[in-house]
Amino acid sequence: MIKKGIILSGGKGTRMSPLTKAVNKQLLPIYDKPLIFYPLSILMLAKIKDILIVVNKGQLDQYKKILPDGKNLGIKITYVEQDKPRGLPDAFILGEKFIGKQNVSLILGDNFFYGQFLTKKLQECVKLKKGAKVFLHRVSNPEKYGVAKVKKNKIFFIKEKPKKFISDLAITGLYFFDNSVVKYSKNLKPSKRGELEITDLLNFYRKKGKLSADLIGRGGAWLDTGSISDFYKTSNFVSAIENRQGFKIACLEEIAYLNKWINKKDINNSIKFYGNCEYSNYLRKLIY
Ligand code: DAU
Repeated sequence: MIKKGIILSGGKGTRMSPLTKAVNKQLLPIYDKPLIFYPLSILMLAKIKDILIVVNKGQLDQYKKILPDGKNLGIKITYVEQDKPRGLPDAFILGEKFIGKQNVSLILGDNFFYGQFLTKKLQECVKLKKGAKVFLHRVSNPEKYGVAKVKKNKIFFIKEKPKKFISDLAITGLYFFDNSVVKYSKNLKPSKRGELEITDLLNFYRKKGKLSADLIGRGGAWLDTGSISDFYKTSNFVSAIENRQGFKIACLEEIAYLNKWINKKDINNSIKFYGNCEYSNYLRKLIY
């Protein structure tokens, strides 16, 4: 069982400047909550309770104001600072001590997942014992992502942001790895853009025949909040679903409560913490 998860929540956020000049991108709102609530909710749905958040140097205090140590959610949150964006696999180098001898999941702080199938699929993925696993999602703009070519459910080619069309299956920002990921990440060399590439890391596994993939089909949504327009599209999506159904997406206390990690008293404490707001009203409805 994978019990540890990392959220990569640093990055320069330059594509969203000036919004990100003073505030980290992952703390900006997607409709009614900070962006980071969404990837954190995915790890919690996967029943991962031990979570490391990688943040930019100097931004720790911003994060601790909203997600101090996880006790209010019945989980454990620790932080590590990244002094500059060295690439996605840097998460496993910075997180070496946190990972220890265990397997680990990584989610990018700006990725949004939603769909009926999701919780079940996630709980299957954390059973991973050896190798690596990724989720693929069909997109109309594959040149913006890492993409995979698949034959008979096997990935046989991966490329980061290909200029020429290779495949329309994007590799989403949710990954499950065995413990070798630390060793492999340390062996990676920076690419031309000066970063360690997640696609190079995945290729290590692929070449050893240890990379598997699952497809997020039409019933599931994956949105990358990389640009301002994607950011607002994601916000609109959350607003549409929440206002139609009356349920919230990524209400962390709700997930923790349903997982029996916290009780009514804890929810009341959260209501006090958030104050008089719509999110608190929703929490109130959960316990009365
Ligand atoms: O969203 C899925 C895509 O994410 C994958 O398809 C690509 O293969 C993968 O490389 C990645 O591409 P992006 O161009 O979207 O990565 P980006 O540099 O935007 O970083 C993603 C998140 O990780 C973002 O929230 C910032 C954070 N980050 C990034 C780097 C490079 C860090 O915290 N530290 C870093 O060193």
